[in-house]
Amino acid sequence: MSGTPSLLRFGFLASHNGSNLQALLDACADGRIPGIPAVVISNNLESGALRRARNAGVDAVHLSGNTHLAPADLDAAILAALRGHAVDWVLLCGYMKKLGPQVLEAYSGRILNIHPSLLPAFGGPGMFGIHVHQAALAAGVAESGATVHLVDGDYDRGPIVEQTRVPVLAGDTPESLQARVLPAEHALYTRVVARIADGKSLFPESA
Ligand code: GRF
Repeated sequence: MSGTPSLLRFGFLASHNGSNLQALLDACADGRIPGIPAVVISNNLESGALRRARNAGVDAVHLSGNTHLAPADLDAAILAALRGHAVDWVLLCGYMKKLGPQVLEAYSGRILNIHPSLLPAFGGPGMFGIHVHQAALAAGVAESGATVHLVDGDYDRGPIVEQTRVPVLAGDTPESLQARVLPAEHALYTRVVARIADGKSLFPESA
């Protein structure tokens, strides 16, 4: 049988601003990522992420400890939302909660996260947002960057897919470094997801 392969469907989880989400939505909209944004899930009803999803005409779903008290119920509800939207790949975009075992198992090998450092440096518990950049500057590194990695349940420890490097400049503050890293994150995440949507290998070396 022949035919056009169907486009991959992406499910996003995000907690706050959602600028990485926006970069991926934009790339899906203009064809740089030949895929379909199927659903955006947030634990934060007031998040920019849910607003950005609605603006893009993508289903926006609030699921949190407020909607589902028991962690296992929340895990099941997130899985049901992903499956209900026929999601192929899960993309974490600043999602501040840990995924539960049901989602981790169902989507094993098909969950990506982006982190604003050159992992394994400055990853793990407590390393989020501005704290990552504070730690990088305190360590005196000459460069920082961003990492896309597979998610396996351990904070920031899954196999690294691709990294991008960003210089640390004299006089940098955590905020100025963060502002330089963020657009590099957008470009990196877009590149990796485009590769998947194009049916190429996840890892750039073997693409
Ligand atoms: C980014 O720095 C990302 O690497 C980290 O959380 C931040 C989310 O930013 N995981 P945004 O919500 O995408 O603007």
